[in-house]
Amino acid sequence: MARILITSALPYINGIKHLGNLAGSMLPADVYARFQRLRGHDVLYICATDEHGTPAELAAQKAGIAVSDYCDEQHEIQKSAGDGFSLSYDYFGRSSNSQNARLTQHFAHVLEERGLIEERTEKQVYSIDDGRFLPDRYVEGTCPHCDFEKARGDQCDNCGRLLDPIELKNPYSAVSGSTNIEIRDTTHLYLLQSKMQDDIREWVEKSTEWPQLAKSIALKWLDEGLQDRAITRDLSWGVPVAYEGKVREGFENKVFYVWFDAPIEYIGATQEWAEAKGEPEAWKSWWRTDEGADDVTYVQFMGKDNVAFHTVSFPVTILGSQEPWKLVDRLKAFNWVTWYGGKFSTSNNRGVFMDQALELLPSDYWRWYLMANAPEGSDAAFTWEGFQAAVNSDLANVLGNFVNRITKYTASKFDGEVPSTGEWGEAEDWIANELETRLTALAQHYEAMEFRKAAAETRAIWAAGNEYLTKAEPWVKYKSDVDAAAIGVRTGLNLAAIFGIIAQPLIPDAAAKILDALGIPEENRKFPTGDAKALLNALPHGLNITPPDVLFSKIEDTQITEWTEKFGGDG
Ligand code: 2FM
Ligand code: ZN
Repeated sequence: MARILITSALPYINGIKHLGNLAGSMLPADVYARFQRLRGHDVLYICATDEHGTPAELAAQKAGIAVSDYCDEQHEIQKSAGDGFSLSYDYFGRSSNSQNARLTQHFAHVLEERGLIEERTEKQVYSIDDGRFLPDRYVEGTCPHCDFEKARGDQCDNCGRLLDPIELKNPYSAVSGSTNIEIRDTTHLYLLQSKMQDDIREWVEKSTEWPQLAKSIALKWLDEGLQDRAITRDLSWGVPVAYEGKVREGFENKVFYVWFDAPIEYIGATQEWAEAKGEPEAWKSWWRTDEGADDVTYVQFMGKDNVAFHTVSFPVTILGSQEPWKLVDRLKAFNWVTWYGGKFSTSNNRGVFMDQALELLPSDYWRWYLMANAPEGSDAAFTWEGFQAAVNSDLANVLGNFVNRITKYTASKFDGEVPSTGEWGEAEDWIANELETRLTALAQHYEAMEFRKAAAETRAIWAAGNEYLTKAEPWVKYKSDVDAAAIGVRTGLNLAAIFGIIAQPLIPDAAAKILDALGIPEENRKFPTGDAKALLNALPHGLNITPPDVLFSKIEDTQITEWTEKFGGDG
């Protein structure tokens, strides 16, 4: 049994996430975690809300509430949206918790001892009317590169370039709009990433299990040369710049930068998990290689914009500490899900957010479509038409009808029992062969974290089942030879069970319905391996089954028209 630690990029606290965010980190991480649990491995899947930084403060101000209250509220909202999508986190923590603060302060202390942190005085935008510095998004203005007039201090949304707030032309305060601004000196802690250039390159080059996208992004950053970066900010919301309860002199009004503390929360949230289950030391065997974590495989999931932070910045923290912390082994990065090729936007009514999606349809419908069209090789456009086609064809027709037909037929012609008679024949040989090849391929796609291929293979297995029934024709044979029909029904029921089992990572709720209807106990729901002939005769003869309720309803054209109007569509 392997031990697999899985994390998905921590969603920012400010606002519920849209389907694109879900598809590029939390959902594939969940699917992978579920698959590995089905393989019998010891999996720990950790996520949390990323609660610091200027977006949280600004959103709280806009809502007119204290930032900590805002975070309490939003954390609950995101947690319940995650539950609604059946995201099987072992723990969903909060980066504003004390565990993360202690760890962040610990890392900063150790890095300074290793000569990797120093104080530097730099220029920052200061708002005279607001009486404060304006770091990152607190200042807006005109982009020095493309002249976009609403560029934010840390990044221009028009040309995508990362900015230093003092570069902005015509700066104004995002809090008050005041243009009464000057540039003042301020002192910050700098992490000397340039000193770690060789160590990081060596580590990146050694990694054999990163997909191309992740490796090329990391190498691009290394080729450009690692820049030293400020890891503190002039803000009040965040991890205090302190050590063992004592605030650093001159840093009373400063906190650590959100991108310094956020990845550390992967460890912090694991500590939260351990404490919540009353085993406060249990996190160590996942994170400390001197405490058992050397046999852990650590897998990270994230959107492509996060790759540099995970392949370069966070590893600088970890490797720079020279302490025995676990580093990422495998990393899966995603491109974007677009809304008909464009951006999701709340203000322009373009796109569906997690809470809205669940008001329209159960989570399995979305999970299936998003993973079958995962943005792996390139960006992937969400379209209502594509969504409707995937649900109606793959889920309602190929899977739903199969299960419905075979269970109902068993109920009406075989007293609702798995038949015991009939002879194995050519059609059964054919499906056994198909299964053997396809189940192996499916497991390989999951191991390779190729989610589109895994969904396509799952569907191909369901489709092969339909083809088997066409070949076996139990309904035709029944009229002249009940035994000949019985083998078709028994094999069909076993196929339905296998369909349910392999569907668990992608559509867990529907899968559970199928497996409950077939009376399959929990311990027999593991990923199927071994002799396909045995798999096709696994259900006990005489076992009572009940047809499940309708698994998936088709999406009507009228619904598509209504949703397109409400959430936007083409153009
Ligand atoms: O891009 C984002 O949504 C960030 N909040 C991801 C943080 S990942 C980790 F480092 F915490
Ligand atoms: Zn720009």
